[in-house]
Amino acid sequence: MRMYDLIEKKKHGGELTRDEIFSMITSYTKEEIPDYQMSAFLMAVCFQGMTDREIFDLTEAMATSGDTVDLSAFGDRSVDKHSTGGVGDKTTLIVAPIVAAAGGMVAKMTGRGLGHTGGTADKLESFPGFEVSLSPDQFVSQVQSCGVAVVGQSADLAPADKKLYALRDVTATVDSIPLIASSIMSKKLAAGTRSIVLDVKCGSGAFMRDAEQAEILANMMVRIGESHRRNTAAIISNMDIPLGHAIGNALEIKEAIDVLQGKGPEDLRTVCLALASLMISLSCGLEQAEAEKRAAQTLESGAAYEKFCQWIELQGGDATYAKNPALFGDAKYRQDVLAAQDGYILSCNAEMIGTASAILGAGRQTKESTIDPLAGIVLHKKPSDAIKRGDVIATLYTERKEMLSDAERMVTDAIRYSEAPVEKQPILYKIIR
Ligand code: URA
Repeated sequence: MRMYDLIEKKKHGGELTRDEIFSMITSYTKEEIPDYQMSAFLMAVCFQGMTDREIFDLTEAMATSGDTVDLSAFGDRSVDKHSTGGVGDKTTLIVAPIVAAAGGMVAKMTGRGLGHTGGTADKLESFPGFEVSLSPDQFVSQVQSCGVAVVGQSADLAPADKKLYALRDVTATVDSIPLIASSIMSKKLAAGTRSIVLDVKCGSGAFMRDAEQAEILANMMVRIGESHRRNTAAIISNMDIPLGHAIGNALEIKEAIDVLQGKGPEDLRTVCLALASLMISLSCGLEQAEAEKRAAQTLESGAAYEKFCQWIELQGGDATYAKNPALFGDAKYRQDVLAAQDGYILSCNAEMIGTASAILGAGRQTKESTIDPLAGIVLHKKPSDAIKRGDVIATLYTERKEMLSDAERMVTDAIRYSEAPVEKQPILYKIIR
């Protein structure tokens, strides 16, 4: 196989064979194909697309390019969830213990914050002592004993995707649906669970800005999962505005605990119950209606909250913080952002709010930056809420006083007002099973 011929074939809209795809991915992982040739191939995919069969083969080739996790000990019970990333997305912290309390085995590898979006690993590290790097044996044994473990992604999981993703990032080839779908699903397949539930976010704070594209991506990922004999389902949810009220690591942990204690914002609870019931249905083999009942019961009975405390403790975290979130304390500096006029909140740009939270210290400016767990933003008002000029619409928290004015300007710019009443946006657009 000559890489030149594969580039030529794809450039003219041809379909690569399974052997050609596997051989290309194996050689690229071994550094036998230079980045400039792979870049040309990726660009050809951006213009010509791929058939479903090519996408399934590409996903499998990347998934098997490094370590794979063996979760066969859990039979059909192992389940994973993936979000395409958003602002204020703390759903894993709530969904994982709900599902574990209902009998599913949540074995999840998770990422760190990227750009304006937060990462579950960073959030969990707000608990003193919490350990996101478990050995494969510790990972499996924790899932066995408590039904949930959430760890950082193993360094050698889908290494072909790691190389390709870094290349796509610098060659303007990220936004191709076949490449995004195969990239995400290669990691999910390698991570080994029998069932996979995807939360495809759509709107100003998400990768996919429009609902049509989000649906195409979600359907494609579900087809990839099913073609590899994994039970796969997806929801498409609103990321035009941040999810819940809290953005920032410890702030989001506190809000997640609120939901687990039967309080918390309605939009967050709705998304969590939708995800949890799909995960319970797939992993425990229940009808959807029964799974929904089971998810709501574990939340209402306090079983999910108890499971959360057990999980944090088993993974080395100080669970007294889970029982008494006031122990997290508050950031040294805080500043309120005030409404500029009477009326209603029309919109709240999620990307800008995420970026403001990151510059306050909740995200990284460079790969080496450290996260400030107490930094972030609490939104007191969201679209459709009535406001009076001077009302507090958001509070900023930081340890870096000098960042407050930039963040305040960004939050102010992110909010749009209306004089007329504004209809509430739906939080769930679609469920795909
Ligand atoms: N997340 C991934 O893992 N891969 C992509 O291509 C896009 C988002």
